Amino acid sequence: MPDVQITLQPSDDAPILNRNLYGHFAEHLGRGIYEGIWVGLDSEIPNTRGMRNDVLAALKQVGIPVLRWPGGCFADEYHWMNGIGPRESRPSMYNSHWGGVVEDNHFGTHEFLDLCELLGAEPYVCGNVGSGTVREMSEWVEYITSPAQSPRADLRRKNGRAEPWKLPFFGVGNESWGCGGNMRPEYYADLYRQYNTFVRTYGPNKIERIACGANTADFTWTEVLMRNAGTHMDGLAVHYYTLLDQTWPPSGSAIDFQEREWFSIMKSALRMDELITEHSRVMDRHDPEKKVGLIVDEWGCWHASEPGSKPGFLYQQNALRDALVAAVHFNIFHTHADRVRMANIAQMVNVLQALVLTDGPKMLRTPTYWAFDLYRVHQGATAIPIAISADQYTLGQDAIPAASASASRQGDRIAISLACLDPNKGRTISLKGLDLQSIESARILTADSMQAHNTFEAPDAVCARNFEVKLEGGKLEFELPAKSVVTVIANLD
Ligand code: AHR
Repeated sequence: MPDVQITLQPSDDAPILNRNLYGHFAEHLGRGIYEGIWVGLDSEIPNTRGMRNDVLAALKQVGIPVLRWPGGCFADEYHWMNGIGPRESRPSMYNSHWGGVVEDNHFGTHEFLDLCELLGAEPYVCGNVGSGTVREMSEWVEYITSPAQSPRADLRRKNGRAEPWKLPFFGVGNESWGCGGNMRPEYYADLYRQYNTFVRTYGPNKIERIACGANTADFTWTEVLMRNAGTHMDGLAVHYYTLLDQTWPPSGSAIDFQEREWFSIMKSALRMDELITEHSRVMDRHDPEKKVGLIVDEWGCWHASEPGSKPGFLYQQNALRDALVAAVHFNIFHTHADRVRMANIAQMVNVLQALVLTDGPKMLRTPTYWAFDLYRVHQGATAIPIAISADQYTLGQDAIPAASASASRQGDRIAISLACLDPNKGRTISLKGLDLQSIESARILTADSMQAHNTFEAPDAVCARNFEVKLEGGKLEFELPAKSVVTVIANLD
């Protein structure tokens, strides 16, 4: 009998897998924006209007549907007016959260929205509730989106942008329970209602308002927000990071670890499922029609920073283990796609679980990049619910499922993605439920060791490769190798 039996259970009620489940986050933190994206017009690194071409090309290739900016904690001390106009006359500021560096504001509103246009990404701007005013927030939205002859729109024109931008997503504060102001949920809910009132709609721009959500398992935050402000929002956020032993502060190296740490990180990643289940249950009580989306706008592995890297810059390497964590998250988001409408990995470049790392003029794609690449086929597809009976992966007294999977369809094209969480032993897979006629492609991400990662000297050591699977009478049976992520695309006709 196969170790893992998967039955596809297509249903007319199955939700769309919103492409924004594959969203990203770029904060003014460490080398995320400066060096990672913005090198400036005079840089020797080839760039387009100041943004490095190698990173742009890599990100475009993997598809960035939505990008959250400018933070994170940084958002609640960011004053957008400092980041517009001629760069040489923009005032500097002190980045108190991240490394105590001086921010010169050379990457501001115009640069961010230009980046989104270059990437083909939808912008998701997070406004300042913690240390900003209602007026400041209101005028930012006017500046970006107003087509009228209004004071802020005229200032935008003076700064070189005639047409308003589309701004589909706006966050009203970030982590207001912590770095965004240490507020109680009742207080934030009232502030949310007030600030949100002045996030106006200009012209044809339709803006979805996202309220700051809970930290991890703070279901009371979700309850209070939904009760007191649920009818005023389109999305409610939640943040959950994958931590070693689910313990703060972050510890454990990204690449120097053993099986105990591998197991602990997998278990921590799987917890996302129970968190979403519980937050959704609270939301269902207030919003049974699921009008408000759950927006997981920060997720990913938070390891100890790389030895020798600058304190507060949150620079970490990225191993095959991180790619497995990404795959587990994608499968969980797919399972909950009726409520989860967006998710943003923290963060896109050079910070935490990044897709791309840079070192001066050099750049590499991480294993996490390749997990995004393997799952890209699911963006905008219709979920196919699955029943999965998976063997266990045990370590000592503890056990977790050995495999995680999800599936989707676009017409007759079926995509199935799987991850083998066991680093020692592969699993036989059998998949039934739909009469598959042919295999279009199969690709795998794996390596010889759990700690495998890409370096600037060997940037392609871990990357997606072709994989062979066969159909036997419409059924798929194959060996899923240990510590691997696989996507199979099959056709029904
Ligand atoms: O992603 C790093 C930080 O983690 C963000 O700034 C903050 O929102 C969270 O605590």
